[in-house]
Amino acid sequence: MRITIIGSGYVGLVTGACFAEFGFKVTSVDSDKNKIQSLKKGQIPIYEPGLESLVRHGQTTGRLSFTADLKTSVIEADVVMIAVGTPARRGDGFADLSYVFKATEEIAESLSGYTVVVTKSTVPVGTCRKVAEIIEQKRPDLKRGTHFDVASNPEFLREGSAISDFMRPDRVVVGTDSNAAKEVLAKLYRPLYLIETPIVFTSIETSELIKYASNGFLAMKIAFINQMADLCEKAGADVQDLARGIGLDGRIGRKFLNAGPGYGGSCFPKDTLALSKTAHDLGVPVTLIDAVVSSNDARKKAMAVKVLDALKKRGSVSGKTIAVLGITFKPNTDDLRDAPSLVIVPELLAAGVKVRVYDPLYYKGSERLGHAEEFQGVEWAKDAYEAMAGADAAVILTEWNEFRALDLDQVKGALKAESGFKPLLVDLRNIYKPTEMEGIDYVSIGRGRV
Ligand SMILES: NC(=O)c1ccc[n+]([C@@H]2O[C@H](COP(=O)([O-])OP(=O)(O)OC[C@H]3O[C@@H](n4cnc5c(N)ncnc54)[C@H](O)[C@@H]3O)[C@@H](O)[C@H]2O)c1
Repeated sequence: MRITIIGSGYVGLVTGACFAEFGFKVTSVDSDKNKIQSLKKGQIPIYEPGLESLVRHGQTTGRLSFTADLKTSVIEADVVMIAVGTPARRGDGFADLSYVFKATEEIAESLSGYTVVVTKSTVPVGTCRKVAEIIEQKRPDLKRGTHFDVASNPEFLREGSAISDFMRPDRVVVGTDSNAAKEVLAKLYRPLYLIETPIVFTSIETSELIKYASNGFLAMKIAFINQMADLCEKAGADVQDLARGIGLDGRIGRKFLNAGPGYGGSCFPKDTLALSKTAHDLGVPVTLIDAVVSSNDARKKAMAVKVLDALKKRGSVSGKTIAVLGITFKPNTDDLRDAPSLVIVPELLAAGVKVRVYDPLYYKGSERLGHAEEFQGVEWAKDAYEAMAGADAAVILTEWNEFRALDLDQVKGALKAESGFKPLLVDLRNIYKPTEMEGIDYVSIGRGRV
């Protein structure tokens, strides 16, 4: 079976490399010719642990190839997966489907032989059927059910652990109303039957909604524990003990109960917005998700205030220096999309603070940064201690492994200790215990009884 994947970003590239590893012949397409040139040379444009060697292995075996020529690759394919971006649309927050529809038009032009066209991108309910309509309009010679079918197959992988998530998923969801397409998709995911992965076959609409409901629910868990953290601080309680206490209840579960600076990344922020918009459009507002979106927006700003308040206790903040450790939305990824740092760092700069950043994947002039205006004016450090040298405070914003065992004597030595005050460390990820922080003015999240 030949698979063509349209879009070679975080999802397309991982999906392609993993299917090639399973033994399928995969062509990974992207309209960005520079990206394709790099990939052909074995250079991976994103940071994802394990991906480089998997891609190289796919290329060596001849099962994985890259091209910007969508037409030829679609002609040869039995399955075409659309894995292009669906960012939030400016203005109303609905998913911008222009990349999906443009890719569909291009696919339609080249379809030949029975082909299943699959939406792997996260798309609002109704999109997969729209994809079928576009194909029918563009190619009146093709009959749905005879020459092609459509299916929704949302992706649940997480950046940072994308390969193991793809190869050992909790479940695979497939939405289609065609038995032929169902058979093709069942064959595609056959390698996962061996590890008894549940494959959930549903209607197209249900499958599309499952993806949004999953992300909406996970975002809600994060927003919930963040609000509980605020409550703990006022009530003299400890949010980590609270999370353990509630999470051990199997109905609640322990995952996604870490209080922090608010969720970010390329999925939760845009998917919660799109879910909210869909629900409003259909006349059944999901007010819980509306509340999650606004509380998460407020949370990021509140974290900047928390840092500035801690600094204000020592006098004016203007002209002070803050070391920010980590700017990606989570560890083990280079993804900055909607990261809390994009709100927090500009708020600190606006308050007149000097910001010195260290992130394992970002440095001054880093190509990855692109035109990120949010970091204009920050100083870049080569490691955490260089960032903290002479700074008035340090803020842990992303829980990269290398921040988990900082040499606290070195931290104390590096940070400026103003007379009458201990060096200030603000830990927005709660990676340290307050009891370890002797000699440090340690501010963390949701620990009211410290
Ligand atoms: N990133 C994640 O962790 C993740 C997880 C699950 C689902 N998703 C969903 O998967 C989809 C893709 O996300 P991503 O993070 O991989 O995006 P991405 O921006 O990393 O990659 C998208 C790629 O598609 C390419 N592209 C756009 N239009 C094209 C066209 N017409 N032809 C060929 N290539 C085209 C772009 O050049 C880009 O390289 C989104 O809908 C997203 O919500 C993402």
